[in-house]
Amino acid sequence: MTAQQTQLQDLPPGLKRELLPKHVAVIMDGNGRWAKRQGLPRIMGHKRGVDALKDLLRCCKDWGIQALTAYAFSTENWKRPQEEVDFLMTLFQRVLRQELREMVEENVQIQFVGNLNALPRSLQEEISRSMAETKDNRSIRFTVATNYGGRQEILQACRAIAQKVQQGLLQPDEIDEAVFERHLYTAGIADPDLLIRTSGEMRLSNFLLWQMAYGEMYITDTLWPDFDRVEFSRALSAYQQRERRYGGV
Ligand code: FPP
Repeated sequence: MTAQQTQLQDLPPGLKRELLPKHVAVIMDGNGRWAKRQGLPRIMGHKRGVDALKDLLRCCKDWGIQALTAYAFSTENWKRPQEEVDFLMTLFQRVLRQELREMVEENVQIQFVGNLNALPRSLQEEISRSMAETKDNRSIRFTVATNYGGRQEILQACRAIAQKVQQGLLQPDEIDEAVFERHLYTAGIADPDLLIRTSGEMRLSNFLLWQMAYGEMYITDTLWPDFDRVEFSRALSAYQQRERRYGGV
């Protein structure tokens, strides 16, 4: 038995272990609206959003879901007021520093995907440290998309592949899905089975454009800070009713 199997907790009634998604992705939308409804500044919504994400990570780990990917900051989010961008960067850094020890103890592997070079230097250092210290952990793979854009990811993969062709390292007819995937930020991470988006918007918003080709989507009106275990089990239950055909019949 692996360490992970010994620690699995019972699933909520009605959920079947064999039908759980292996990889769940989340678009954590609605932090600002949540804060507004409470009469609080937007940044308080992001703070509460961190708590919701921590709960979800624990839940995935407890229930035996192997991978969780969260969209923390898109390439478009730089357009927000400078104050909010600065708050988010500082928040990411602080949370990483505070949570690293627990992630190590809980055997969580954390990694970041996106154009990380454009992030503040001190955040980049915290990211490198957390990735290095958890690289051999195996209970769950937790990926945080930061300064991530699906189109940008595809473009940089094309550039890297074109360069290899130019250098004679790759022939054009050798470029297949497997080669392409190896050049994405998410190389080595299986595609998500289920993408959850909170706060009711029915869009991908430039998230995992390639990877979501056959992923199931679940959209809830619940705002991200209110997304809890009960909401998650509803999403899993809906997923377990779906029939995945991958383009077949
Ligand atoms: C979208 O809500 C949320 C964000 C842009 C930030 C999400 C980030 C976190 C929850 C923190 C995660 C922390 C770590 C360390 C990974 P919104 O602001 O667009 O809400 P609105 O649509 O109601 O305005």
